[in-house]
Amino acid sequence: MLIMAGSSCRVLGVKVARELDTRLGDIDSKRFPDGELYVRIGEEVSGQAVALLQSMYLSPNDFLIEYLLAADALRDLGARSILGIIPYFAYARQDRRFKPGEAISCRTVADLLRLVGTSEIYTVDAHLHRIRGLSEIFKIPTRELTVVPLLSTYIRENFRLERPIVVGPDEESEQWARVTAEILGCDYDVFEKRRLGPREVEVTPRRSNVSGRDIVVIDDIISTGGTIVETLGVLKKLGVQKVVVACVHPLLVEQALARIYEAGAYAVVGTDTVMGPASVVSVAPVIADALRTK
Ligand code: R5P
Repeated sequence: MLIMAGSSCRVLGVKVARELDTRLGDIDSKRFPDGELYVRIGEEVSGQAVALLQSMYLSPNDFLIEYLLAADALRDLGARSILGIIPYFAYARQDRRFKPGEAISCRTVADLLRLVGTSEIYTVDAHLHRIRGLSEIFKIPTRELTVVPLLSTYIRENFRLERPIVVGPDEESEQWARVTAEILGCDYDVFEKRRLGPREVEVTPRRSNVSGRDIVVIDDIISTGGTIVETLGVLKKLGVQKVVVACVHPLLVEQALARIYEAGAYAVVGTDTVMGPASVVSVAPVIADALRTK
């Protein structure tokens, strides 16, 4: 299989290709002065099965258009199949109409990916809160990968935690908190979260016997950091010691990382589904394994 990567994922693409003992295929993408994107496939792809990596963070619209241009060109140039690997799948949160008239963006993006010839989609810990799986949105086969075991193993091996407890900041994070607790060999607790606005949330702990203990807070996404800052505030009031904050997709917009450290985090660790200052664990082995066992 030929591995190719859009501009959001070049480093990850190289790592995946290395894991598979192959090289990254050539795609040239640039921006015209007026903001339009240019994409050129610099490879012979006719008859080839191609895996195209593109994560949709921080400039999700640009990365989406770049993916669409690349996939359509690959199809046009005769690629046998196109497996879209989208480590961070943007627009997943708008999976229904919350207010009358809203676009169901998740479905629109899924349809666009299919319409340009994507034959299958892999994502990593996609934000699936109200739906059971991506197959409810996509009309092509999907596979959901998880990097939470690798992230949790990294925490176990790199931090000396005293009587740790894992905390998920909201009900949906239970799935990740459970896995992390298993790997750390400890208990977990899940808080209740009420969203007050795009940046404000209120979290309520369900139990309070965390005093004097080290904590790992785990969530799928850190965006503005509102959820984590609020969670840290509650934990500190309960008298916890060290708090390691972990997430799969460290979007960390609007000075979120600084705010989280200011709120008392001991460390913030995330993965390279989103490249940035907290992306310390690579999802490359997970993607490579999935391609090997395809
Ligand atoms: C939402 O339910 C997600 O799991 C995250 O908790 C949320 O996206 C985090 O956003 P923020 O960092 O802006 O609070």
